[in-house]
Amino acid sequence: MVSLELEKPYPENYQRTVQQVAKENETGYLPLLKTKIDSIEKYNIVFVGFPTWGMQMPPPMKSFLHQYDLSGKTVIPFNTNAGYGVGDGFQTVKELCPNSEVLEGFSIKGGVERDGVYFVIKDEKAKEAATEVKRWLQKIKVIR
Ligand SMILES: Cc1cc2nc3c(=O)[nH]c(=O)nc-3n(C[C@H](O)[C@H](O)[C@H](O)COP(=O)(O)O)c2cc1C
Repeated sequence: MVSLELEKPYPENYQRTVQQVAKENETGYLPLLKTKIDSIEKYNIVFVGFPTWGMQMPPPMKSFLHQYDLSGKTVIPFNTNAGYGVGDGFQTVKELCPNSEVLEGFSIKGGVERDGVYFVIKDEKAKEAATEVKRWLQKIKVIR
């Protein structure tokens, strides 16, 4: 499991980040990743998880999918959002992984940064999420 970090992190301030991301999405700017993945060819299945930003896939994940060739692999997307859904995110995974088998994604409501709500998938919500995730993984035949 690896999280994507940027050479130049986004601002601490939520609104400033929203504005920067909107500009990046408009221009197609791909931020430089600090995270390097040694030998992506070792992996046959890649889970690709990202929050919804501006109803899209966040620019760092676009950078990752541009930079690493997932051809011939199975790609499994999943998403958290503040209640507005995944937006274009899963469609973008398909577009950026044209030679991968992209399975049906999973999307769930997580925190709401705008309101300073960060870590919510805990306690009762974590149990519900675990049940939903299990059902999804069975449906896409990753587990039995
Ligand atoms: C820059 C930015 C833009 C966002 N835009 C959206 C959005 O368009 N729709 C939405 O539902 N949530 C939006 N969110 C909220 C996140 O998707 C949400 O808080 C998510 O649960 C965070 O997941 P995480 O805790 O896994 O990082 C945005 C958050 C940030 C920081």
